[in-house]
Amino acid sequence: MESAQAWIGAKALLEWYVELGAVDAVGDAPVNRYELAETAPKPRSVARSAHAPLALADAPKTDHLAQARRLAGAAGDLAALAAAMRGFDGLELKKGARNFVFADGTPGAPVMIVGEAPGADEDRIGKPFVGRAGQLLDRMLAAIGLDRASAEAGRAVYITNVLPWRPPGNRTPTAEEMAMMVPFLERHITLAAPEVLILMGNVPCAALIGRSGILRMRGQWTQALGKPVMPMTHPAYLLRNPAAKREAWADLLEIQAKLRQGR
Ligand code: URA
Repeated sequence: MESAQAWIGAKALLEWYVELGAVDAVGDAPVNRYELAETAPKPRSVARSAHAPLALADAPKTDHLAQARRLAGAAGDLAALAAAMRGFDGLELKKGARNFVFADGTPGAPVMIVGEAPGADEDRIGKPFVGRAGQLLDRMLAAIGLDRASAEAGRAVYITNVLPWRPPGNRTPTAEEMAMMVPFLERHITLAAPEVLILMGNVPCAALIGRSGILRMRGQWTQALGKPVMPMTHPAYLLRNPAAKREAWADLLEIQAKLRQGR
């Protein structure tokens, strides 16, 4: 009886965690945190003597934004940019991610798609847009003759995200996280040199054109880094709101017409 109740209690607790947004187990073995409390280390004092070096709290913080700008500016090609981003330690969420997710498709393709950040499937596989939203994106692209697996000039597409690491629980990236990655993203676009950018949802719009409100912005051409930009609703939104697919289809036709003009 007691163990049945313990099981029900544990299940309710787990469901509550899931409701709060927990999606991953952190360890394989259970930890009894009531026992840990007894042995928890006391916080260490950071008082320092007159001759001691600076305590950690006093040390100047690395200026990660300046570092991001420097690293991005120094990257001469996409491989160097990927290496610089992979080694960048300015974002805490790097520590919780399984994989660094850089890009997929063909660099130099006429169309470059910018999404938000990897989700669970992308984090596991190490490529952008490979989960359900990514599968819908592939079908949307196919509808206008584009294919991330093709290197043919008329069909190729290149795909990345604002953030290369998955935010825990798929939360929306913070303004600080986005700002930190914008220098890398801008360099990424410059090096990939697409003709047209497609921004999927609010996060890439905020990062590259400093605006959000995707439901108002979608379907209207704008500019970023001297390139035509089409904001679209994110495929994950379309999965939740199938009625919005009609507008997304109109946006895809706009993109197709723009690409044809350039040929
Ligand atoms: N959503 C995104 O914005 N990017 C991905 O890579 C996957 C889901």
